[in-house]
Order: sequence, then C-alpha cells, then structure tokens
Amino acid sequence: MIRFLTAGESHGKALTVIVEGLPAGVPVSSDFINHELKKRQKGAGSGGRMSIEKDEVEILSGIRFGKTIGSPIAMLIWNKDHSNWGDKMSVSEQPQEIIDSAKVTAPRPGHADLAGVQKHGFDDVRNVLERASARETAARVAAGGIFKQYLLTKGIEIASHTLQIGDIRTDPPAGGEYEFEDIKSVYENDPEIRCIDPGKSREMKQLIQRARMDKDTLGGIVETWAVGVPAGLGDYAQWDTKLDGKIAQALMSIQSVKAVEIGSGIMNAGKFGSEVHDEIHYRLPELDSGSSGYYRKTNRAGGIEGGVTNGMPIIVRVYHKPISTLYKPLQTVDIKTKKSVDATVERSDICVVPRAGVVSEAMLAYVLARALIEES
Ligand SMILES: Cc1cc2nc3c(=O)[nH]c(=O)nc-3n(C[C@H](O)[C@H](O)[C@H](O)COP(=O)(O)O)c2cc1C
Repeated sequence: MIRFLTAGESHGKALTVIVEGLPAGVPVSSDFINHELKKRQKGAGSGGRMSIEKDEVEILSGIRFGKTIGSPIAMLIWNKDHSNWGDKMSVSEQPQEIIDSAKVTAPRPGHADLAGVQKHGFDDVRNVLERASARETAARVAAGGIFKQYLLTKGIEIASHTLQIGDIRTDPPAGGEYEFEDIKSVYENDPEIRCIDPGKSREMKQLIQRARMDKDTLGGIVETWAVGVPAGLGDYAQWDTKLDGKIAQALMSIQSVKAVEIGSGIMNAGKFGSEVHDEIHYRLPELDSGSSGYYRKTNRAGGIEGGVTNGMPIIVRVYHKPISTLYKPLQTVDIKTKKSVDATVERSDICVVPRAGVVSEAMLAYVLARALIEES
C-alpha cells in the first residue's frame, strides 16, 4: 500500500514526512520538490511567516543515485522561524515562566483552537494550533513532489489555477473549457494570483489588498486538473473504492477547504440533464495517430463517472473559506477566565487561495499514484 504520514509543529524544529509504497526505480529530483515548495510559499495574500522561511527539502532515505529503491522515503523541511522562539517550543521540560510566555487562551472562531482544547482538555491553545496550522502542508507538498514525479513516468500531469477569490470569479473563454497548457503556465505567468484571466487577476489582487487594509480575510476556489489519466481507475462496485470519494476525502482534509466539487458538479445540480451530461463519441483508429477511441466534446463530469475515470482530464475544485485569524479579531471566550475577549492574533495570511493550489495538486497526485499502484 502506498501512504504518507507527516509530523511537525508550525514553530517546531522541522516538518517531516515519510512516503512509502512507491516501486523502485522512480526518478526523483530534489529540485523538482523544491520548485513545488516554492509555489506554496508565496502568493498575494500570504503573511509575514513566508518571508522568514525558505523551504527546501532534505531527503534522508529511500532514494539512491536519483531513484527510489523501494524503501520508505523520509524527508525533512527545517522551520527557520523556530530559532526565534527560544525555548517556547522546546521538547524538554521548562520553567513555568517560559510555559506561560507562549500560552494562548483566546481561541479563534473558525480555527481548530477551541475544538482541540475540548478534545484534549488543554489549558493552552498553542498545543492545538501548532499542529492544526497549515504549515503542515509544506510536508504534504514535499510528498506531492514525489507522487508527481511518479505520475510523470505514467504520462500524467497535474496543475491548478485560481478560479475565484472572494466574489471575483473567472469563467472559461466563451463558454468553452480551459486549456491545460494555460493552467500549467499560470504560476510562471501570474505567480501572485495564478489566474488565467489577467483582468480578473488584477481585480482579485485589489480585493486582497482591500481585505488587508480592512484587517479582514478572503477565501475562494482552486481548480486542479490531472491529464493523461487512463480510463478505468477506481471502481463503481463498493462505496469505499470509488475514486471520486477518495479524491473528496483527500482534498477536504486540506486546512480551510470546506467543499470539494468534481467537474462542474455544483452548477450541474441546478440544470437539466440534457445540459449536463457529456455525450460520447468514437474516433476510428487512424494509422498515424494514437488518439483513436472514445471521447467527449465536453467534460462537465470532471473525468469521473460512477467512481471510475473515463479518460477525460480529472477536474476537481476546492472551496477555501476565508481564514479565521483576523487582525481585527472576532469575539471569543478566554478558556481560563471564561470572560469575553478578542480572539488571539497569530501572524497570519490574508488569503491562502493562490498558494494553496499546489496543496490540492499534491493531494490529487497522492490519490492517483495510490490508485495506479494498487490497481496495476
Ligand atoms: C496554505 C494554507 C495556509 C493557511 N494559513 C493560515 C493562516 O495564516 N491563518 C489562519 O488562520 N488560517 C490559515 N489557514 C487555514 C487554517 O489552517 C485552517 O482554517 C484551520 O486549521 C482550521 O481548519 P479548517 O478550516 O479546515 O476547519 C491556511 C490554510 C492553508 C491551506
């Protein structure tokens, strides 16, 4: 079985991830992974932390001479900010004044803070927020860098773009569909917003600037594509073998994602069937072309029908809520005094959407790599 497990607190020493189950002989380059990490680091709406970190992966095991050797791959990303925290994140016992100096008692509405305290009975929200923080997604992206390199050996590519920030939304040109090549180059063309439409990108950036000035936050939608995925991956026979269900679970687990959509599933719910389903065509084999076989002129299903891939690009959208740390804090209750207070303000992003795309890519890469390995 292929799987991965991350560990590490936001201001702890490092993030770590172990990936296991990949076959031997897969080419893996650290440069590829570091490029993925760079994409996660900065975008319009990112906060001060990302100016401190320069995420780079250290591969500790499982790769030899640039290829997987079939054993677990351990990777590490140092947290540069850790050194600014003195003993406040120490793994060893500390005097009470140090423990109190880092203590957080005003849980942020919308974050994991209070729910985590209720779960474990902590008197310090920091024990929760350090791990709930999406700093953890750096480790997922490093793992995603491995899965993506495996998928490339099977001719599968993954890329994402920003579809919406706040209420500013892009639509495909003239009612058609996006081109994968445009999605693939969006990071190089528009690293700050990652939107295919330059006009909308400007509007999105302005909206983020307004939210920053207003000490508010914004959410939005990221669309991720996987192309080159063969038909027949996943299964329709059992609830837990359906590929759309597995994708939904993996992408919903990304911090601040509150809905996952396959294809244009949400809009489709309000339409007639005749406007929704992708008609099936067949191209006869041609001697000089490999493109014969079944095809569709539209892809509203997002490449999956009945829990099984149909050979069209997989299209998945995730809906990020506006993040919950507000520089203009909401009201909460102090867990020690039980009095009404302003919620804690940890250094924070304004909008995570542009840089969160690569996290969706990593999680989709994981599900596809797992399905390919398990079903081959
Ligand atoms: C890349 C990324 C960065 C994030 N940065 C922040 C942040 O700076 N501040 C914040 O309050 N939430 C941030 N979040 C969201 C929180 O981690 C998330 O809302 C929190 O863990 C609670 O989980 P939930 O929203 O999924 O319920 C970020 C999410 C992602 C994907």
